[in-house]
Amino acid sequence: MSKVVIYNEEDFAKLRESANVVAITLAEVAKVIKPGVPLTYLDQVGEQCIRDHHAIPACKGYMGYPAALCLSVNDVVVHGIPYPNLYLRDGDVISVDVVALLNGYHGDFCYTFEVGEVAEETRLLLKRTKESLYKAIEVAKIGTTFSEIGKTIEEYVSQFHYSVPQEFTGHGVGRHMHEEPSIPNYAVRKFDSISRLRIAPGMSFCVEPMVKIGQGQNKTRFKSKFDDDEWTARTPDGQPAAHFEHQLVVTEKGTEVISSYKLLGEVIGTEELY
Ligand code: MF3
Ligand code: CO
Repeated sequence: MSKVVIYNEEDFAKLRESANVVAITLAEVAKVIKPGVPLTYLDQVGEQCIRDHHAIPACKGYMGYPAALCLSVNDVVVHGIPYPNLYLRDGDVISVDVVALLNGYHGDFCYTFEVGEVAEETRLLLKRTKESLYKAIEVAKIGTTFSEIGKTIEEYVSQFHYSVPQEFTGHGVGRHMHEEPSIPNYAVRKFDSISRLRIAPGMSFCVEPMVKIGQGQNKTRFKSKFDDDEWTARTPDGQPAAHFEHQLVVTEKGTEVISSYKLLGEVIGTEELY
């Protein structure tokens, strides 16, 4: 039995506002990303921007998470904590994951940035991870099963000998940061409940491929290695990882991407599809 929450147009209007706060916040953080900057400063800029928009940084205090943003550098896959001793260096990549709670609704999305001059193979990882997200969005139409999303991501990135994590997934989002269904970045077995659940009007969810260079312990899937803080999740082999996340709602007209990278495209000089 599925416990997927079905939202209405009023809810969607609020979700779009929350997503707008995240878009603005990501762009503000993007403006200050450069070699030498402490991660704590990025976190402060993000938190201030969220609060300036009368929203709450929803990660702060969530299951004890200590910061406003998740800032994951190089081999950190997700949930990197901005510790005071961490600084950006030329050649790093950093994923900035922002969750803002406004009027009871969550905005949650993420982008991976280049810091200074980044190695070509890492730039390709970022480009292809974002492409896998767009491929997944293309298949996420009314009537498609949620397992198609993961299948699309895994198939797309595995041609480059990349792999996706077993532990971290996309998810329903709305009044809670994490709702059902959980949406793996890989194909699930035929009889798992998610393989039968179909995308339908009223649903609200995040698609978030996390991808690392090189195969995992299980070929196209890898198991992350956790630091002692039990948050910081790293690739098992030290290879860099990328993470892109968009937020989607499904109206009667179809699937709509409510998150946007356009503002931050203006900051970093990229053409962004959504
Ligand atoms: N977007 C992240 C996720 O969906 C945010 C997690 S907030 C944290 O997992 F508090 F758990 F870090
Ligand atoms: Co998320």
